[in-house]
Amino acid sequence: MRIVILPDAASVSRRAADVFCQLIKELPDAVLGLATGGTPLGTYNELVRRNRAGEISFAEVTTFNLDEYVGLPSNHEQSYHTFMHQNFFTHIDIDVSRCHLPDGEATDLALECQRYEKLIDDAGGIDLQILGIGSDGHIAFNEPGSSLASRTRVKALTQQTRIDNSRFFHALDDVPRVAITMGVGTILEADHIILLATGASKATAVRDFVEGPVSSMVPASALQLHPQVTVVLDSGAAGQLTRREYYDYVEQIQCELESKSGN
Ligand code: PGA
Repeated sequence: MRIVILPDAASVSRRAADVFCQLIKELPDAVLGLATGGTPLGTYNELVRRNRAGEISFAEVTTFNLDEYVGLPSNHEQSYHTFMHQNFFTHIDIDVSRCHLPDGEATDLALECQRYEKLIDDAGGIDLQILGIGSDGHIAFNEPGSSLASRTRVKALTQQTRIDNSRFFHALDDVPRVAITMGVGTILEADHIILLATGASKATAVRDFVEGPVSSMVPASALQLHPQVTVVLDSGAAGQLTRREYYDYVEQIQCELESKSGN
């Protein structure tokens, strides 16, 4: 894992946007895995800015979101469909017919999960997946205890996740109890994964998944098994890492090597 520690959340967003832009310049029809939540918002804002400035085009890009609540209509103000359209898709030159999210209103949820997996497969797999992390170490809605080989499926949300997400709803009772989520195994098939975390409330989860053992109790720790993961943190989220000096040193060397090779 490449651990990049930056001073603040704005720098994290810019770095993540750089990774997206570099990929799309090399591969204009890239398949992107997208996430919702507070963390990637700054990245989307930065990508919107660059799109408007003519620096990058999403015209040929395909996207797959990680997850969607079950039972919320897609036009509900807190559905992930609404989140993505409001915060990203309507502001860029993307073809929305190539923007995919699981259908949380499907009558046959198991079939919908299979359909979503096949759609990703048919698109050739995900080139770059962006992830946030829950305070309990979840990625997407893969809560602690999720199989590290899991595929897209229906998951019950933990009370902690519902409490964390209740800030977007009028009341805790309004937060859905169930979601469709890509599995850990699905996520691990992306070619490159970039996980962002900002703020001290993520520091324990970050330490546990970067420096702790691989365990289904910390689903993000499965990323240790993936050959190309970039973890971009602000100083708050990095606050409990015990090997921070080493990560900074490795990053410095990595940057020197990349500037020599012209990357
Ligand atoms: P957040 O959520 O970005 O809103 O903190 C992250 C997550 O739960 O994966």
